[in-house]
Amino acid sequence: MPTMYSILAKKRAGLPLSGEEIGFFVAGVSDGTIPDYQTSALLMAICILGLSPEETTRLTLAMADSGERTDLSGIPGVKVDKHSTGGVGDKTTLITAPVVAACGVPVAKMSGRGLGFTGGTIDKLEAIPGLSTNLTLEGFKAQVQKIGLALAAQTGNLAPADKALYALRDLTATVDSIPLIASSVMSKKLAAGADKILLDVKVGAGAFMPTIEQAEELARCMVDIGRLAGRPVVALITDMEAPLGRAVGNSLEVEEAIDVLKGRGPADITELSLTLAAHMVAMATGDRPDHCRVRCEKALSDGSALIKLAEMVGAQGGDPRYITEDGYLAKAPIIRPFMATDSGYITRLDARLVGEASMLLGAGRTRKDQAIDPTAGLVLLNKPGDAVQAGQPVCLLHTSHNHNLSAALKVLSRAVSIGDTPPTPRPLIHTEISA
Ligand code: URA
Repeated sequence: MPTMYSILAKKRAGLPLSGEEIGFFVAGVSDGTIPDYQTSALLMAICILGLSPEETTRLTLAMADSGERTDLSGIPGVKVDKHSTGGVGDKTTLITAPVVAACGVPVAKMSGRGLGFTGGTIDKLEAIPGLSTNLTLEGFKAQVQKIGLALAAQTGNLAPADKALYALRDLTATVDSIPLIASSVMSKKLAAGADKILLDVKVGAGAFMPTIEQAEELARCMVDIGRLAGRPVVALITDMEAPLGRAVGNSLEVEEAIDVLKGRGPADITELSLTLAAHMVAMATGDRPDHCRVRCEKALSDGSALIKLAEMVGAQGGDPRYITEDGYLAKAPIIRPFMATDSGYITRLDARLVGEASMLLGAGRTRKDQAIDPTAGLVLLNKPGDAVQAGQPVCLLHTSHNHNLSAALKVLSRAVSIGDTPPTPRPLIHTEISA
């Protein structure tokens, strides 16, 4: 029988952990019998020394089995889940999910909340008054059967080991480790029950992986876990150097997602959402990706994806007019500009710092139980490559309180760089990785 002490000593010596040892660790984390100091010590050892592919897969499967696995087999068709490793202004799920559902492919998706500088789909959806994301498993499945689309918060018992580990990782500087991120993401995806999984692995300043090499390594690690677990996974490496779209913050992002569904959204978020949707439809149907892309574009241009989202909002207790009509969502009472200090081109708009400024305005939380201001955030009037004049507003800050405005403005002054020449544009989608 292993002990936590023997596991720590073995990992410290750089030796691989057995299935029994990993199972012991995950069981002890889930039932609370391993003290946080021993769990934290192992997380730090993993962060520094890494895990082999076998250890990472064992850890992932043990975490996936630490709670209930959702059984979606009663819903006809191939169910494809989509997961982003986290970014700033990433409202793609609000667009991709209804587009895919409007193409006739069922979407049964459980999402998370934002933590730190990154946003989360559940917080965005809850900016729509009355909308509930706390569906029972039965209600969730019934809604997918009826309208083909449900977006819900993860049930309390989905991969509980990940919840406990993530909370400690967040406090012990052990979030950005490839085996720990891969096991965290994939344990939840395996437990959530979809047949196939599309991963949006972010790279850049606002992502956990700052370089393409690291993002590719993370993507390969998750694709391999999927292969070993019998669940096909495709990963797209997509850019998160600057925020996606122009809106950052919960109701502002819902508004922008609706703009995309009405055919008038920013080009980058529209393109990424359509690419992800086409991949999901292709994975579900086996049809050619270029055919699927045409179907997704049609679902956007004929308004059927917008109607699908409105139907989902109605089914989850919100007023569908928040989606179909303009101007229904509440606006923050205080709106202040951030001005350019020089004339020239925006050379950099650091996504992480923009996310931090948005948090300071009230859009994010530093602790899981913190309330957020759904109307808070930023609207970027300019993006990298745009020419600006000194004194011209670069973005608008939305908030309900004055107290953090100057701190947010200070963070933005570090986020925005202005130079004499426009930057080389970065690709939106870097690579695709699959088994
Ligand atoms: N998203 C997750 O779900 N887990 C991580 O560890 C990082 C991003």
